[in-house]
Amino acid sequence: MKTVSLVTGDTIPVIGLGTWQASEAVIQQAIHVALDGGYRHIDCAPIYLNEPAIGRALQRYLARENVTIKRENLWITSKLWNSFHAPEQVEPALKQTLHDLQLEYLDLYLIHWPVAFKAAVGLDRPQRGEDYVALEQIPLTATWQALEALVDKGLVKNIGVSNFSISKLKTILAIAKHQPAVNQVESHPYLPQTELLTFCQQHNIVMTAYSPLGSGGRDAAFKKPDEPSVLNDTTIHAIAKSHAVTPAQVLLAWQIARGVVVIPKSVHPERIQQNLAAIKVKLTKDDMEQIDYIDQEIRYIDGSFWETAGSPYTAQGIWQ
Ligand code: A2P
Repeated sequence: MKTVSLVTGDTIPVIGLGTWQASEAVIQQAIHVALDGGYRHIDCAPIYLNEPAIGRALQRYLARENVTIKRENLWITSKLWNSFHAPEQVEPALKQTLHDLQLEYLDLYLIHWPVAFKAAVGLDRPQRGEDYVALEQIPLTATWQALEALVDKGLVKNIGVSNFSISKLKTILAIAKHQPAVNQVESHPYLPQTELLTFCQQHNIVMTAYSPLGSGGRDAAFKKPDEPSVLNDTTIHAIAKSHAVTPAQVLLAWQIARGVVVIPKSVHPERIQQNLAAIKVKLTKDDMEQIDYIDQEIRYIDGSFWETAGSPYTAQGIWQ
């Protein structure tokens, strides 16, 4: 499996299986198909509400008699949910994830959003302004230092962030004892994140693209009625046709060629395999330029869902 080197010297597999919106009922089969097919990287989060099912799937897979893969051959990422940013909440939150995933350690633990809730919100959605906590009250730097303590205790091997802008990354870099290894953000040709990618590469931070296929299966709550689908883009289709591959494979191959890790989600065996096979797709310089030229600014996961009345957060502020 092709990998990308992190600032710690560890190497992350360039394709991982995304698990957002994968229900408990189907995730076990998806994990087994993925591991059989050669995936070694699974991207998880407690808010996806399927970590216990993923834990059972991993446990069963690793216990199979004819399987030679061991825990240390896998790369498992999870994320600290917004309700647990207070430094004293961080280790218990990680321990719950380790319990659910049935693991002793994580390869990578990310701050999921630069947005904080009261601990009582747990894994529910905040309903009122009072459910939120402003970053002035729990600074991201304090949460970061609590993640660093997890590295020192050997509970996580690498730490990073998700949905962080350049200015928020700078805030962390200014105080970090352990540098952020990864910034996981939405990215696809309609949101190439070129400036952020350049900043990350200059600071030895690997960018991971979530929603690399445009996350078309998203819940209606996260969708605008008229949004264009990057998987249906005509330039992407033409390039796919010229290489006799699928549009999804072109979207993934483009990111990999830019040095970006991808975590496409699928629960269908043929797509899980097709997505991994994108590693073998070699785009030409002209293909890359054509895709770069699409250059739109369509953010599917725009953060507006954290704008509940009375919330101190705005979508614009999140990305600033
Ligand atoms: P499914 O899970 O039913 O296969 P993203 O990774 O950008 O969030 O996109 C995930 C969405 O794209 C899901 O709806 C998933 O559906 C679908 N998908 C995953 N792989 C492919 C593929 N190779 N071709 C088309 N759609 C795909």
